Amino acid sequence: MYFCSMAKVKSAFFCQSCGHESPKWLGQCPSCKSWNTMVEETLVRSNPKALIFSRQRTENTPILLTEIQKTATARIQLKDTELNRVLGGGLVLGEIILIGGDPGIGKSTLLLQMAIKEQMNVLYVSGEESDQQIKMRAERLGITNPDCHLLIETDVTQIINHASKLLPKVLIVDSVQTLFYPEIESAPGSVSQVRECTALLLRFAKESNVPVFLIGHITKEGSIAGPKVLEHMVDAVLQFEGDRNHFYRLLRTVKNRFGSTNELGIYEMQGTGLRMVENPSEILISNTDGTLSGSCIATTLEGLRPLQVEVQALVSTAAYGTPQRSSNGFDPKRLNMLLAVLEKRCGFRLASKDVFLNIAGGIKVDDPAVDLAVLMAVLSSNADIPVNRAFTFAAEVGLSGEIRPINRIETRITEAQKLGYTHVFISEYNKGLKPETHAIKLVACKKLEEVVKKVFG
Ligand code: TYD
Ligand code: MG
Repeated sequence: MYFCSMAKVKSAFFCQSCGHESPKWLGQCPSCKSWNTMVEETLVRSNPKALIFSRQRTENTPILLTEIQKTATARIQLKDTELNRVLGGGLVLGEIILIGGDPGIGKSTLLLQMAIKEQMNVLYVSGEESDQQIKMRAERLGITNPDCHLLIETDVTQIINHASKLLPKVLIVDSVQTLFYPEIESAPGSVSQVRECTALLLRFAKESNVPVFLIGHITKEGSIAGPKVLEHMVDAVLQFEGDRNHFYRLLRTVKNRFGSTNELGIYEMQGTGLRMVENPSEILISNTDGTLSGSCIATTLEGLRPLQVEVQALVSTAAYGTPQRSSNGFDPKRLNMLLAVLEKRCGFRLASKDVFLNIAGGIKVDDPAVDLAVLMAVLSSNADIPVNRAFTFAAEVGLSGEIRPINRIETRITEAQKLGYTHVFISEYNKGLKPETHAIKLVACKKLEEVVKKVFG
């Protein structure tokens, strides 16, 4: 009859897409405006006795900003230098990092590889795979860490219990969607479970100073509650992405309280795990002897990291009345616009031609600095004249055919020079450059016609 000793059962409606909470059901989520995403979840909120760690309240008083002593953030340097870079120079003690990405992209592989290659006490918790499966994968990757512990568990309280006994240098949890907090009745993966479990792990990380990696899945529809809700709670959000048909993977920083969000890590998925790619151009540029037309190199930036990408174009006589325009990895609207510029300013008749564009390696670029390379690839294919492989391009093209300046030109030039290009085509309007300080030749142009003349003679 009396259930007073039990925690009060309460329920609320949560948007499964953005995590918005509402006391009643709504057809449309007022926060993210998506329809039919509110689902009722039972929850027990703030039952202090149930919490494993009771927070020690300390009295804080206002202090002067100038009086705060700056202490260097203690960081753990990982063997994985790409991961170090993406985290802003190493792993910060007590930080909680969320790694998101599509299923099968390699999140588990990335973190398991880290766990078994480091020479320190690591606890890898999996709620997704059995110990046998993980052992098999670890053997494939080559175990070198004698101090790597594995725990198959989904109850977050158990995970925290074990972690606080073991006190590893790094805790990895795969994945947040499989975790559950027994005090809450809703299913693992629901907004309230994901949020509560993360809050507990967050508290563990802050109190024990153990950095925690959390893996989170993202579905195409974004229907599973998870990363979106979590992004606000964690210290860093990394996105692991790539084309499943291609072997390289990009690790991007989406949020980082301890570093810049412009960092990018690049890996190649091999039979024996993920290989760090220090020179990305090696995989993004195909090996040709320079006799093929329709391809040229652009110097772009992904975040702060310079990348040489190969732009490939195929121009052929239209088989049907309306010419086809299609592009892979480059905005089709921008391609149409650039083709119109070419037609109007340079008098090239492309209206009766099919134009196909591809960024090699399957990556997507939205850096305006590839414009010039796109046009050169199109012209090269159209005229069937190869572009010199020692040339690289870094400029935006305006509607009147003017060659426009781009940002961080110095970074791009330095990279192109390092990789052995002899000429880099840039805008005349990129100010403050000192050509004599560069071994690479800077070809500064004002108009598209000038570039055409210099490239094709
Ligand atoms: P996985 O890491 O399980 O992806 P996620 O955790 O993001 O769902 O698996 C990634 C894919 O990589 C899987 O299809 C198999 C493949 N793979 C390799 O190509 N080489 C390897 O060494 C490993 C371990 C996996
Ligand atoms: Mg996995």
